Amino acid sequence: MKLAALFLISLVSLGTAELPLDVVTPSGYTKLRSWANCSLYRIEAETTYDYAPLLIHLPGSRYDIGYGYGYLLANEIAENYQSLMKSLLGDKWYDGLLMETVALALDWQWTDYLLDVCGVGEQDGGGVPVLSSQSRLEQRHWSQQAQGLTVHEANLEENEITFGGFPWTLRLRYIMEFSSDLLEGRTLWASTNNTVGFNHMIASAPDAEAYHQGTSSGPVAYALETMYQYTAYFPDNDPREANAMYNDSGTTVHIGFPMKEAVWRTNHGYDPVIREHYEWSQSPSSWSMQRYMFIHDALATYQTEGKPIGYMEAVNITAIAGDKGKDPYICQNNTNGTNVLSVTFEPNDQTLYVAWERSTGVNWRPATCSAYLKLSLRDWFALKPPLNFDVKTVL
Ligand SMILES: *[C@@H]1O[C@H](CO)[C@@H](O)[C@H](O)[C@H]1NC(C)=O
Ligand SMILES: *[C@@H]1O[C@H](CO)[C@@H](O)[C@H](O)[C@H]1NC(C)=O
Ligand SMILES: *[C@@H]1O[C@H](CO)[C@@H](O)[C@H](O)[C@H]1NC(C)=O
Ligand SMILES: *[C@@H]1O[C@H](CO)[C@@H](O)[C@H](O)[C@H]1NC(C)=O
Ligand SMILES: *[C@@H]1O[C@H](CO)[C@@H](O)[C@H](O)[C@H]1NC(C)=O
Ligand SMILES: *[C@@H]1O[C@H](CO)[C@@H](O)[C@H](O)[C@H]1NC(C)=O
Repeated sequence: MKLAALFLISLVSLGTAELPLDVVTPSGYTKLRSWANCSLYRIEAETTYDYAPLLIHLPGSRYDIGYGYGYLLANEIAENYQSLMKSLLGDKWYDGLLMETVALALDWQWTDYLLDVCGVGEQDGGGVPVLSSQSRLEQRHWSQQAQGLTVHEANLEENEITFGGFPWTLRLRYIMEFSSDLLEGRTLWASTNNTVGFNHMIASAPDAEAYHQGTSSGPVAYALETMYQYTAYFPDNDPREANAMYNDSGTTVHIGFPMKEAVWRTNHGYDPVIREHYEWSQSPSSWSMQRYMFIHDALATYQTEGKPIGYMEAVNITAIAGDKGKDPYICQNNTNGTNVLSVTFEPNDQTLYVAWERSTGVNWRPATCSAYLKLSLRDWFALKPPLNFDVKTVL
């Protein structure tokens, strides 16, 4: 009887292709190329990716980081550019004149436009406002990265935008580099200018530690709903989020369900001003709202079960939210989804779980349905140049 029941269960799971939640620890890293103290590695792991994922290690000044990145990934960057343009323009792309025109336009964009607008200088990767000297970077670089401050970004389509601010990718890097805790991160954020609308987040492992020790009552993370000249800061369990309502064809419905000890966002906001300037739908049936609820429901389920959220549970929540078509709980084995990268980061022990989209064409599958590689960033942050290791290194 027991045997029959087990057999039935395995038949059922074969038919439904649940989320695989396949976490793989690499067996090592093979060095492919290096420049100065920077190196590119192939990650050695048992997976079904068409190509082995790569890891690039970029110690040094901002100049070294930028140069090393371009130098070591030159082939991949060129390949990426070619395949992007081909996907946009088809075989027409290989017409030499078109290639030349696009190259000219891109050069113009950079040299005559973006360089002026963003003011990116050569040596310190950003003539970015209030950016301190390179020597400060060198001094703090290694220790700061390992302190456990983490930052995030998700689209938030707002109608108030500008170029007159801090380019967001550099700004997030800047926050991580020069903040040791949540308050420093928030203060630094407030002293720099927003550009476009985004849901950002700053979360802090040291603040979480103090909260768990009972020496702080939080918050340990803020969701930042932003647009031009405006940022709304949301800790966990925020009343603005709890009270948010939506007029669904004459029926007023609740759309915010914050929880204690959890902060999350997809692609809509809860601050009244942010909501007023939002350009997409805030209906409960919108995809952003649905994904917000998938995350909420997973957290609520673990809470009801009294199950602490360890790495497997965190990867599960990440995987559920990654778009793989209609059903968030199933890998449908088709090309419907749009999820190209799925990442869970544990800032306390500096561990990253990362999955990529797999294959191309009809064989393409969302990231969430592939293996998550478990990478210890602590090991990489701890490595100080010069790096003497050779061809094969196992961390
Ligand atoms: C590599 O790092 C060491 C130690 O920081 C430094 O002395 C050396 O100049 C670096 N090498 C290059 C080529 O940047
Ligand atoms: C930030 O915005 C204000 C108001 O638009 C502007 O005066 C200031 O120059 C901006 N600061 C930077 C560093 O862009
Ligand atoms: C809610 O929406 C309906 C139409 O969908 C509209 O007639 C009504 O005035 C709205 N109510 C409020 C309070 O905006
Ligand atoms: C992932 O979350 C879903 C939804 O809450 C749940 O049904 C499933 O059991 C979870 N899986 C794991 C491994 O926690
Ligand atoms: C997924 O679909 C492919 C065809 O696209 C098929 O070859 C493969 O067997 C399917 N895998 C599963 C687990 O259903
Ligand atoms: C998803 O993919 C299947 C198979 O490729 C297709 O039949 C279906 O129309 C797609 N769309 C949705 C919403 O499921």
